[in-house]
Amino acid sequence: MEKVLFILILILYNNDSFYKNIKEVNPMNYDFVINKNYRLDENYIPDDLENLSLEYACKDMYLRKDAKEHFEKMSSDAKREGLIILAVSTYRSYNYQKKLYNNYVEELGKFRADIASARPGHSEHQTGLSVDVANTLLDYDNFEDTKEFLWMKDNSYKYGFILRYPKGKYDITGFKYEPWHYRYVGLDIAKYIYQKNITLEEYKFN
Ligand code: DAL
Ligand code: ZN
Repeated sequence: MEKVLFILILILYNNDSFYKNIKEVNPMNYDFVINKNYRLDENYIPDDLENLSLEYACKDMYLRKDAKEHFEKMSSDAKREGLIILAVSTYRSYNYQKKLYNNYVEELGKFRADIASARPGHSEHQTGLSVDVANTLLDYDNFEDTKEFLWMKDNSYKYGFILRYPKGKYDITGFKYEPWHYRYVGLDIAKYIYQKNITLEEYKFN
């Protein structure tokens, strides 16, 4: 029911500023925005990608060095409290995102695909700073209902990660609520964004 309502609101609202006047971003520091209006070059691959320990990831996957180190620390601290924070999707190449997005379009149609999945060049996963998490292997769809989510909501900023697509911010972020998707922005910015309860777009552009 909630999903149907959300789609209806979108059809009525239909923000047509998305995927218009697109600017290309050259990633510097950690606070740059990649979204429907800011894209990465097709050939962009971060030069400091590192392999996550399989203790914290469901398979072989990569994040940029700082993000990887902070993710592993976060996951390890959570583990000490009896919680499982496992990476299920991290760095994705332009071509991988292209396949993923095209699969969504085939399955759901373009309108619904665009709410859930970024077009190639527009996914934060290509930055190597984003991670989708789950508490059990690949079950990130139900992540919101877990104690791990409650922990992440109020602790991830201490490790430099923000909840990137919060509930009710579609008109700003361009994507539906994703309780599983976190973006590394560094400790100071993550704390600021958490305390002000804002999105990365609001931090960067307001
Ligand atoms: N699901 C997020 C928005 C992505 O495709 O990058
Ligand atoms: Zn994600």
